Amino acid sequence: MKKPTRVNHPPAVELLPDNHAVVAPIYQSVKFEFDTVEETERYLRGERPGFYYSRSSNPTMRQLELLLAELQGREDCLVAASGVGVIAQTLLALTRQGDHVICFVESYNPTRYLIRRVLGRFGVTHTLLSIEDLAGVERTLAERPTRLVIFESPTNPVTKIADIAALTRLARAAGALSMLDNTFAGFHQHGEYEVDYYLHSLTKYASGTGDVMGGAVIARGDLIRALRTDFGALGGLLDPHAAFLILRGLKTYFVRYRAQCASALRIAQRLGEHPAVARVHYPGLPAHPQHALAARQMQDFGTIVSFDLRGGAKAARRFANALELFALAASLGSTESLVVTAQMLGGREPEAELQRLAAITEGTIRLSIGLEEPGDLLADLERALAAADAAPGA
Ligand SMILES: Cc1ncc(COP(=O)(O)O)c(C=O)c1O
Repeated sequence: MKKPTRVNHPPAVELLPDNHAVVAPIYQSVKFEFDTVEETERYLRGERPGFYYSRSSNPTMRQLELLLAELQGREDCLVAASGVGVIAQTLLALTRQGDHVICFVESYNPTRYLIRRVLGRFGVTHTLLSIEDLAGVERTLAERPTRLVIFESPTNPVTKIADIAALTRLARAAGALSMLDNTFAGFHQHGEYEVDYYLHSLTKYASGTGDVMGGAVIARGDLIRALRTDFGALGGLLDPHAAFLILRGLKTYFVRYRAQCASALRIAQRLGEHPAVARVHYPGLPAHPQHALAARQMQDFGTIVSFDLRGGAKAARRFANALELFALAASLGSTESLVVTAQMLGGREPEAELQRLAAITEGTIRLSIGLEEPGDLLADLERALAAADAAPGA
C-alpha cells in the first residue's frame, strides 16, 4: 500500500470485547458500511438495524436520542441541529394543505412565525388563542377539524402555566395531536400527561453551558416513525460532535437544574419584596395566579424569573445596563445568569396586541438564573434595582 492510499485507510484500532471506553466515543463519521452489498440492501429495505449515512442517524446521535426518550418517559426521539429546527421539521412533517393548527399568543416568537408565515404559505390555517382560554380551545376544536394543538408551559417570558391535562384531553377528544414545547420545564417534567409530541431546545438545559445548539422531539415509537423519513429529507441533522457535547452536559443536568431552581426561588422572593418591582412572575411563588396548578404539574418551578419594573422601559434599560453578573443575552438555562428586557424579546416587529395579551409590559424583565453563588446574584440585582429606581420617570 502506497502512502497516499494508507492515509485514506489508516490502521484499525478496535477494543477487545472485555475492554470498554467509559465515555462513549464520538462517531465523527458520515458514512458507515456493511461487509457486503447483500447486507447493505437488507438494511436499506429495513430488514436489519445499523447505520448507513449520518443525515439519517449516527450512533452518537442515537445514544442521545435514547437517553432523552427515557428522561421524558417516551419510547423514541429524533434530534436536529436546533430547537427551532426540530419544531420546523416536526410541523412540516405533520401538516398538509388545508390542515388547521391551534397555537397560542404566549409562545416562542419563531414558533408562531413558523405556523403563521411558513405553514401559512402552504395552505395551513391557524387559530391564535391565549393559553388561559380553555373555552376558546374547546370551541375552536368543536368548530374546525384540527390537526394539532401546540403549546408551552411555563410560557415565555411571564411563566403562565398551561393546564396540560385539560389541553391534551380536549385535543385527544377532537382527534388532534398535542405538542408541548417542554423546553422551560425540562426533560424530567410533564411526562405523565397524554402529550403526543414533546419538543425541546437542547441548546438550553441539556447542554447547560451555552456553547452548543440542538433540538429534540420525543414521542411514542409510532409517532416518531411518522417523522423519520421527512427528518432525513429535510436535512437538519445534529452533528455527532454536538450530540457528544450535549450528552456530556446531560451528566450534570439534574444537579444544575435543581440548584438553579433553588436560586431562582430565592431571587423571586426577594424581588417580590422590592419597592421598584410591580409584579414578579415565578410559578413557585404562592402569589403566582396559577401556583396551585404549577404545584400539581411540576416538581421544580424552573429557572426563569420575570418581573415588571414600576418605572417602565426606561427603568428596565437602566436596570439591565447596571447588572454586572447577568449577561445581556437571549437564551436560557445556561450555567451563567442572563437578562433580557421586553424590548429585546419583542423582536424586530413588536406586535403590541400580542404583547398585551401575553402580559408583557414595557418594564418586563426576564432573568435566567445560572449557577453563580445566589448571594452574589442577589447583591447584583439589588444594586441594579437601585440604579433603575434612581431617577423615576426620567
Ligand atoms: C421555548 C423555546 N422553544 C424553542 C426554542 C428554540 O431553540 P433553539 O435556540 O435551540 O433553536 C427556544 C429558544 O429560546 C425556546 O425558548
